[in-house]
Amino acid sequence: MRVLLAGASGAVGRPLTRQLIAAGHQVVGISRSQSNAERLRNAGAEAVVADVMDRENLLAAVRDVRADAVVHELTALGTTKMGEALQGTNALRTTGTANLLAAARAVGAHRFLTQSIVLGYGYRDHGPRVISEDDPFAEPVGGKLGEAVAAIRATEEQVFAADEMEGVALRYGFFYGQDRMTDMIVNLVRKRRLPVPSGGGYANFIYLEDAAAATVAALEKGRAGQAYNIVDDEPVRWGDYLDTLAAAFGARRPWRVPSWMLRPIPYAHAMMTTSMRVSNAKAKRELGWAPAVPTYREGIPLIARAAR
Ligand SMILES: NC(=O)c1ccc[n+]([C@@H]2O[C@H](COP(=O)([O-])OP(=O)(O)OC[C@H]3O[C@@H](n4cnc5c(N)ncnc54)[C@H](OP(=O)(O)O)[C@@H]3O)[C@@H](O)[C@H]2O)c1
Repeated sequence: MRVLLAGASGAVGRPLTRQLIAAGHQVVGISRSQSNAERLRNAGAEAVVADVMDRENLLAAVRDVRADAVVHELTALGTTKMGEALQGTNALRTTGTANLLAAARAVGAHRFLTQSIVLGYGYRDHGPRVISEDDPFAEPVGGKLGEAVAAIRATEEQVFAADEMEGVALRYGFFYGQDRMTDMIVNLVRKRRLPVPSGGGYANFIYLEDAAAATVAALEKGRAGQAYNIVDDEPVRWGDYLDTLAAAFGARRPWRVPSWMLRPIPYAHAMMTTSMRVSNAKAKRELGWAPAVPTYREGIPLIARAAR
């Protein structure tokens, strides 16, 4: 397939570009910068320079592009300002998705994959039950988190409702691997500046190479109108994950703090006090995919080895 990939220069976009090409697909990556476009060309992709938030600019940039599928892997997490990052990401999920759907029509695509996130099952303690794609997703909530949840819902709904478009949503767990965000977390752990709420909840991770492999599988085999949880085989408590990370990098164990102490950083508080055990059974069954890095126990040593 010819794939128009928004976010090709990002954390998942880079391994995804590589894996798509290795699987025999052609990639046209979208980036806002000439330098990232050049990197994409060096990786064997074609590239267009466009701002997805500017519909006219995007449609002009893809005027001569033909593609079978569009993949949305955009975030605004590239800034250190939390508020800007969250608002920007919300906009990429609402307006960005709408603009990419217009671009999908313009390039003749019939398939559209959008990123989503397992946190859409709700920022709360879900207890020991296992969550599948049949569970309620992105139900309206109030406050700042309400905007984030509404944006997650907006990207999925738009893609599923688009006429004559096979829409698929990938509900990823937390990414980790060789990327800027993992480096940042390692740095905080090394400096002992990432406290863990005592008794913190279960989180669901996915190694970046595995997230990319699941996305290739979903492009080829995902059913229209379906969402897939893309997580590894074992939910892990934040404390166990960060202790293992600290040990792998020769750092001291992160501090344990009462969860209220994280309240001044509302998003971190919401994330680390949420607890859920998400199943990847549907992705395994329908996409013929399984994570090559099944748990953090195998993944963290890979990060530490790559950093040496
Ligand atoms: N990180 C996680 O743990 C996680 C978990 C679940 C779901 N997700 C979702 O998975 C997707 C990929 O995340 P990631 O961590 O790989 O992202 P990332 O590394 O932050 O990369 C973001 C990408 O978006 C592009 N971009 C941002 N704004 C743009 C705009 N206005 N126009 C065109 N391109 C724009 C950037 O390209 P240029 O800078 O080259 O323009 C970059 O390639 C995201 O949609 C994210 O929400 C992430």
